[in-house]
Amino acid sequence: MSEALIQAKELTKTFGRGKKAVTAVEDFNLLVKAREVVTLVGPSGCGKSTVLNMVAGFMSSTSGQILLKGEPVTSVEPQCGMIFQSYALFPWMTVQENVEFGPRVNRLPKAERLDRARRYIEMVGLNGFEDAYPNQLSGGMRQRVALCRALANEPEVLLCDEPFAALDAMTRQVMQEELLRIVDRSGQTVLFITHSIDEALILSDRIIVMSARPGRVKEMIENHLPRPRHVDMQLGEDFLRMKRGIWKMVEEEVVASMK
Ligand SMILES: Nc1ncnc2c1ncn2[C@@H]1O[C@H](COP(=O)(O)OP(=O)(O)OP(=O)(O)O)[C@@H](O)[C@H]1O
Ligand SMILES: [Mg+2]
Repeated sequence: MSEALIQAKELTKTFGRGKKAVTAVEDFNLLVKAREVVTLVGPSGCGKSTVLNMVAGFMSSTSGQILLKGEPVTSVEPQCGMIFQSYALFPWMTVQENVEFGPRVNRLPKAERLDRARRYIEMVGLNGFEDAYPNQLSGGMRQRVALCRALANEPEVLLCDEPFAALDAMTRQVMQEELLRIVDRSGQTVLFITHSIDEALILSDRIIVMSARPGRVKEMIENHLPRPRHVDMQLGEDFLRMKRGIWKMVEEEVVASMK
């Protein structure tokens, strides 16, 4: 068994103080191995984004810790790339400039920067659009630029917070397959948040179902559905059985979160 790349140990996060204090995540434990794709599912407000933000080092924990390759995460973690639901592109920069942004900040030599940008733009099928601005692209294309921009930093870990939620069903499916292909090729480890159980089953090696707030790990499901995975699989008996099981677990927590 390969070593843990990301480890969350008894992670707790409380926002605010006194009567207004909200504990978003409590005693959350997780272990992600190198090259694994793990998804977090759970009711709205159960602390999924909070967990991801702590892994990225955007937010500190109240207690417990995150280890990346055994080292505690204490500030914004350069080994992690983050992709959000909103594309978070710079509207005043072209596709090329957006993708080059990270490598430029990291002071990569120009030739290498250009080479990386070219490689990743090609990988997501956006060659020819290097000089376009985000507002000249469709939603799916913008999300591909966002993926590309995260990849151009060559992070070991990709943290994805519902990146495909705003896309239409067809584009979403293409993006899921694209993500799997890219990750397979470049060997990233992925921690992915989604509200779609279908998406979780298509993408991941393991699915973590979180409890209603305060978020803890309710169940951990190994996903042995064969790869490569395609949308056709969603009609298969194994897929439907797993989907029903996970749906039931999430539903219990959604009901609990409304009480
Ligand atoms: N910066 C903050 N300040 C105060 N409370 C916060 C902050 N961020 C999150 N929370 C609270 O923490 C809880 C968990 O929020 P979080 O965004 O992690 O949930 P989530 O599982 O990602 O939900 P969703 O599925 O709707 O995105 C919520 O009750 C939220 O109100
Ligand atoms: Mg969230």
